[in-house]
Amino acid sequence: MAKKTINDFAQMVENGEKIVYLTAYDYLTAKMQEKAGVDMILVGDSLGMVCLGYDTTFPVTMDDMVRHCQAVRRGAPNTFIVGDMPYMSYQKSDEDAVANAGRLVKEALVDCIKLEGGGPLIASRIRAIQQAGILVMGHIGLTPQLMGQIGGYKAQGRSASAAMKIVNEAKAVEAAGAFSILVEGVPTAVGKAIAGRAGIPILGIGAGSGTHGQLLIYADMVGMYDNFTPKFVKKYANVGEHLTNAFKAYTEEVRQGQFPDDAEHTYKMSAEEEKEFLT
Ligand code: KIV
Ligand code: NA
Repeated sequence: MAKKTINDFAQMVENGEKIVYLTAYDYLTAKMQEKAGVDMILVGDSLGMVCLGYDTTFPVTMDDMVRHCQAVRRGAPNTFIVGDMPYMSYQKSDEDAVANAGRLVKEALVDCIKLEGGGPLIASRIRAIQQAGILVMGHIGLTPQLMGQIGGYKAQGRSASAAMKIVNEAKAVEAAGAFSILVEGVPTAVGKAIAGRAGIPILGIGAGSGTHGQLLIYADMVGMYDNFTPKFVKKYANVGEHLTNAFKAYTEEVRQGQFPDDAEHTYKMSAEEEKEFLT
């Protein structure tokens, strides 16, 4: 199938078709997701936790993002890929933000970049990156890079005034030129209200069923990442358990001398050559 474009996503919203969005960080996973037919892949800075073993997204660098976006691009050449901007790759200045967004496009061929926040500074960054010709996805609500100010990983917009603030951030991000917005960790009513008034695709993760599409972190939904599981995650598989069991079985068989089986898993010599070799 051909890679979807901004026009396809607009059409999907128009038709009421949900946009399917998952994270991926490596070649193999991206390949499986493309095969499964997902519409959009996010190479999130959740890379820090899911692949690199950090406790937060803060240590993730531009070089980390470029490398993993490249791997995902190789695995999913025909899927729309969003590259996440890591902490401090866009906060400093518009120029810096454009240069770093440009790296993800130039070096990893992503179709879009994503950055967090809905204030005036972020609006300026979105405008600058958009004017450089790059598609921008905003990210509001629960924004992990603002974890300290939010006071932890918890749902946002649960009071009427907090909900209104997020709705206004969505308006500001759209006005700044974002092609789409990801809304994370808000009540269903808030996700629905934002999607209902927006002129661009609104994607949700933990934002209820009223958004134009859904995102999950793949390692959560296949049961691979077990350090912490947010309330909004549905587990579609227990891959972590399957892998652990396979590693255990292998460990056992090697120790018992059951693997490899010389009749099945090894290379053979002709009887003649073997005889000559052994004499
Ligand atoms: O980094 C990421 O995967 C994200 C999602 C959690 C929204 O930004
Ligand atoms: Na992120």
